[in-house]
Amino acid sequence: MPGEKLYDNHGRQINYVRLAVTDRCNLRCFYCMPEEGIKYVPREELLTYEEMLRLMQLLAGMGIDKLRITGGEPFVRRDMMDFLRGLSRIEGLNRINITTNGTVTAPLVPELKSMGIHTVNLSLDALDPQRFFQITRRDAFAQVWETFEALLEHGIHTKVNAVVMAGKNTDDIIPMVELTRRYPVSVRFIEEMPFNGAGNHYSVLEWNHLRILEHLKAHYPDIAKIPDPPFSTSHNYHIPGFQGTVGIIAAYSRTFCGTCNRIRITPKGMLKTCLYDDGVFNIRDIMRAGASDDQLRDTFLQALGNRAKDGWEAEKKRTFGTPASESMATIGG
Ligand code: GTP
Ligand code: 5AD
Ligand code: SF4
Repeated sequence: MPGEKLYDNHGRQINYVRLAVTDRCNLRCFYCMPEEGIKYVPREELLTYEEMLRLMQLLAGMGIDKLRITGGEPFVRRDMMDFLRGLSRIEGLNRINITTNGTVTAPLVPELKSMGIHTVNLSLDALDPQRFFQITRRDAFAQVWETFEALLEHGIHTKVNAVVMAGKNTDDIIPMVELTRRYPVSVRFIEEMPFNGAGNHYSVLEWNHLRILEHLKAHYPDIAKIPDPPFSTSHNYHIPGFQGTVGIIAAYSRTFCGTCNRIRITPKGMLKTCLYDDGVFNIRDIMRAGASDDQLRDTFLQALGNRAKDGWEAEKKRTFGTPASESMATIGG
C-alpha cells in the first residue's frame, strides 16, 4: 500500500538508505581493496539511474527521508550530477548526503551546494601525503585537500572519515584532531572493519574504539562528551575552544546496532538490511522482471520483517563466506 512505513521486526523505523552507485574507485585503499583492485561489476549489471530514481521515489513514499550516496567513489560514475539533480526533486527526501574520497570532487562543490546538498563525508585517512599514498596507493592528497577547502568555503557541513589502522596512520590521529581546532568540521575515527576484498583480517582489532578514546584523552585531558544526534554512528566529543568536533565510530565493535535505522542497496541492486549480512534479495532482478510498485513495496516489507537484531547476528547468518571476502566498494560502506 502506498504510504505504508518501513519498520523492521524489532520495531525500528527505517528512514535512511545508503545507495552505492558504483563499485569503481580511483583509489586502492588497502583496508577496502587489494592492490590489483577487485573484479568490477559489468556495466549492464549496475542499477541504472532510472531504476535508482524509481526506487528512491518509492522508498521516499515509505518514510525514507535520508539518502546517502556512496560507492566505490560516486563521482567516477558518468553523469552523476544529473542523477543527483533528479534525486533532489524527489519529495520527502530531505537529506541527500554524499560520502566521497574527494579526489575529483573539488570542482563540483559549487554545484552540489546549489542543489541543496548540505553535508558531505570526506574519506581522508592521513594528513601526511606520504602516508596518504601508502594507504591509498595513489598520489592524490593534494586533490583531496582541495575538496576539503572547497567544501568549507561553500559552507557545506563536512565530516572527515578516517579509518584507524595499526602501524599505518595512528601518528595522524592527533594532527587530524587538530583540524577541529581551526575548522568547524567533524573528524571521525573509524574502527577498521574486515571488508577488504582480500579475505583476511586480524583476529583482534588493536585500535578499537576504547583505545582510540584513551589516546584522545591522553592528549586532550579536557575533551568532553557531547550529545550524539539520534541514530548516530559516532560517539561525539569536543575539546574546549576548538571549532569542530571529534567522533569515534565503533564500526567493528558495533555499539550502535540497537538503534539502526538504515538499509543498503549495492551497485548491483542487492538489498542489505545490515552491513554485515550477505544480501537479502536482488531488487534489480525483481524490477527487470516487471514488478509493479506494490509488489516492490511488499518485497521490502517482507525483507524488513526478518531482519537480524544486530551486526553480530547478521554476520552469523551469512551463507556466502566471511565479510573479508567482500570489498567495501561493493557494499557501499
Ligand atoms: P552520517 O549519516 O553522517 O552520520 O554518516 P554515516 O556514519 O552513516 O556514514 P559514512 O558513510 O560517513 O560512514 C562512516 C563509517 O561508518 C564507515 O566506515 C561506515 O562503513 C560505517 N557505518 C555506517 N553505517 C554503518 C552501520 O550500519 N554499521 C556499521 N557497523 N558501520 C557503519
Ligand atoms: N573499515 C572501516 N571503514 C571503511 N571504509 C571503507 N572500508 C572500510 C573498512 N574496511 C569507510 C571509508 C568511507 C566509508 C564509507 O567507509 O573510509 O569513509
Ligand atoms: Fe575507494 Fe572508498 Fe574503497 Fe578507498 S575506501 S578504495 S576511496 S571505495
